[in-house]
Amino acid sequence: MIWEKLPKGFTILAPMEGVTDSVFRAVINKAGRPDLFFTEFTNVSSFASEKGRHDALERLTVIPSDSPIIAQIWGKNPEHFAILASKLEELGFSGLDLNMGCPDKHVNKAGGGAAMIRTPELASECIKQARENTNLPVSVKTRLGFTYVDEYKEWLPFLLKHHLAALTVHLRTRKEMSKVPAHFELIPEIIRLRNEISPETKLIINGDIRDLEHVHKLSEKYPEIDGFMIGRGVFNNPFCFTNKKPTLEDLIELFRYHLDLYDQRAAEIHYPFEPLKHFYKVYINSFDGASDLRVKLMDCKTTDELRQVLDEFKFE
Ligand SMILES: Cc1cc2nc3c(=O)[nH]c(=O)nc-3n(C[C@H](O)[C@H](O)[C@H](O)COP(=O)(O)O)c2cc1C
Repeated sequence: MIWEKLPKGFTILAPMEGVTDSVFRAVINKAGRPDLFFTEFTNVSSFASEKGRHDALERLTVIPSDSPIIAQIWGKNPEHFAILASKLEELGFSGLDLNMGCPDKHVNKAGGGAAMIRTPELASECIKQARENTNLPVSVKTRLGFTYVDEYKEWLPFLLKHHLAALTVHLRTRKEMSKVPAHFELIPEIIRLRNEISPETKLIINGDIRDLEHVHKLSEKYPEIDGFMIGRGVFNNPFCFTNKKPTLEDLIELFRYHLDLYDQRAAEIHYPFEPLKHFYKVYINSFDGASDLRVKLMDCKTTDELRQVLDEFKFE
């Protein structure tokens, strides 16, 4: 069971829609990998439908450097959770995680993500169906509550009573989105709930964790936390799972590696160019001329044009 094999204070790259696909995971693997990867979330009903299955399978692509990796899935139809759960082991996953925290309006309107906090019976049925149809460990990633922070007092015990393999708590409510600081002050109380209700459940915290140094500090302060999940920290520093302070050369080399992987993936599937633009700031920042360079990169339409702009730029 993967969760038992991870070292105390393990690190995870957070699932991020439109970001943590197989290409970006390979980039992070080169920079310095976390102990565990998660996929972006995949909709169970898309997978269950003939029309959506192909796209869902593309999102669930696993490459050798991903391992170990958890598939994150979302939806509201328990039967569809059963269908997708039954396939994940053969696709190469070490576990599956149910998303019960996504604040996106469309996702919530469809009854998924954080909306599950308001439909606990349905959440329970989805966990049950997933579990009954796989040998893989089942975990949940959620928030403190939908509207009020205090909702965690009922919601987290409710989830813990399912004796999940792991529970990731993003230390904010759905209403808070990512606009307020994560509620680190609640960590001791969340540890107490886990210890009391389901000591075997691995407890992972998430929200505003910057890098490995920050993980070590938090781990010293809260040794009973099993794992630490970093999301947006990778935008600030793609080497955040290491102690390395990257130089400009390191970042440019990683950017070029990202472009090579992009080309390889685009040769296999329809892989749009536009989303690649979101990543420029990850590599091209905080040096003289960075914003001018980004403007030039934004005008490019192919990876070869991007490489040419990089070749011609005079780095100080
Ligand atoms: C662009 C983006 C996409 C995200 N997609 C997902 C997702 O697919 N599943 C999920 O559970 N959380 C998703 N999240 C939330 C992150 O996993 C994480 O909980 C959140 O960013 C807080 O952690 P951080 O402060 O380390 O970024 C997403 C966040 C961002 C910024």
